[in-house]
Amino acid sequence: MASASSSQQASLVQFGQKHVTHGLGRVVEGVITKGEGSYVYFMDGRKMLDFTTGIGVTGLGHCHPKVSAAAAAQCVDGIVHVQCSIAFHEPYLQLIERLIPMMPDPSLDSFFFWNSGSEAVEAAIKLARTATKRQNIISMQGAYHGRTFGAMAVTKSKTIYSQGFHPLMPGVFTCPYPYWHQLGVPADTPTEKLTETCLNQLNLLFAQASAPADTAAIIIEPLLGEGGYVPAPAGFLQGLRAVCDAHGILLIVDEVQSGFGRTGTNYFIEQAGVRPDILLSAKGLANGFPLSAVVSRKELTDVLSPGSMGGTYAGNAVACAAAVAVVDAMKEEKVLENVAERSAELFAALNAVRADAALGRTVLDVRGAGLMVAVEFASPTGTGAHDAMRVASAPAKMASRVAKKCVEKGMLLLTTSVYEVVRFIPPLNVSQEDMAKGCAIFREAVEEVVREG
Ligand SMILES: Cc1ncc(COP(=O)(O)O)c(C=O)c1O
Repeated sequence: MASASSSQQASLVQFGQKHVTHGLGRVVEGVITKGEGSYVYFMDGRKMLDFTTGIGVTGLGHCHPKVSAAAAAQCVDGIVHVQCSIAFHEPYLQLIERLIPMMPDPSLDSFFFWNSGSEAVEAAIKLARTATKRQNIISMQGAYHGRTFGAMAVTKSKTIYSQGFHPLMPGVFTCPYPYWHQLGVPADTPTEKLTETCLNQLNLLFAQASAPADTAAIIIEPLLGEGGYVPAPAGFLQGLRAVCDAHGILLIVDEVQSGFGRTGTNYFIEQAGVRPDILLSAKGLANGFPLSAVVSRKELTDVLSPGSMGGTYAGNAVACAAAVAVVDAMKEEKVLENVAERSAELFAALNAVRADAALGRTVLDVRGAGLMVAVEFASPTGTGAHDAMRVASAPAKMASRVAKKCVEKGMLLLTTSVYEVVRFIPPLNVSQEDMAKGCAIFREAVEEVVREG
């Protein structure tokens, strides 16, 4: 017989299904009532290891005590809402003070805050157009930048984000990302070759579709998120910087998902030694409180007319206070060191699954950086006749079946992209024990799906 809590959950889920739009997808039909560290708790009593962190948001785990305390103190002893066009508030400025030394380049000295990643993308596009007095934006195939109109127009990861919503914002052009799938080449193609091909395509795009003099910005996720968790080779990012410098084009680096320690450094772009003109940050920034940041050079942001940027809740005081606590906790608790150690364990465990002869050629690729890591599986059909992912003997729909099995075994895990990819985005402070547990659940899930065929 179902327990009282599971029947209560079932009726609430039914209520939600009836009254919440079908336009939202859900991984689990349940009601989460509590989160603590690396775990979430459902109303029906289930406790699950959370290797999704709400899509890369709760980097310090759910309800980190120092972050929650800072937010509570801001509500009780400070102020909840100071509209950004009325006056500064203290946490806003304290946060900037803390972010300055974290920037991948000292030229990034001008900050403004928003609520979501999409809003930050919108602001970056507006800033780039105003600062360059040019219109066109080049985005990468496979990119995800959000669901609002400007962000949707530069999003190229799945048609579900734009299907039925056309016409999109004009002036957007697409360049291939150095991901073997997109170029129809084998998974082990050297990164130098991928880089060369994509930079060549970019030059063609300038010659055939968007003249450099009409191009305001190139927007890129240095580690492609919703497009498959693919790190761009440093040479490609450096090549983009050189192209931007040669033509006066701005480089917008979207680190909404890959930023804030997720890849083992504050921002992934610093691993390539590349200077962004505009850097976007969100997700892990406030550990669950809605906050995003647009960072650029003061000389660029000062071309904006007062009032042309801003929003009712932009840079909310509670979210900023939480973000200040996140930065402090990351330092005090040596979170980046934990990322390095757990990342090595995660890669070792996933590569062992890949190398396991009993699992055949099921795992094609293990990739990523820090704790933003993906496993790509083979597929019996691939995405077309020339897809290197096609392996006739591979089980169908591996990624979603493995993710579903992980949920049944007590771990939340997400898929990503139009390919057979699952992604690991555990808390940055995940313990060694929980990392081992997550890896064991994943291995069991893969073994079972391969057995079932
Ligand atoms: C790289 C990137 N940019 C932008 C966004 C959009 O952020 P939001 O969902 O907060 O609007 C996301 C969200 O997943 C993202 O991963």
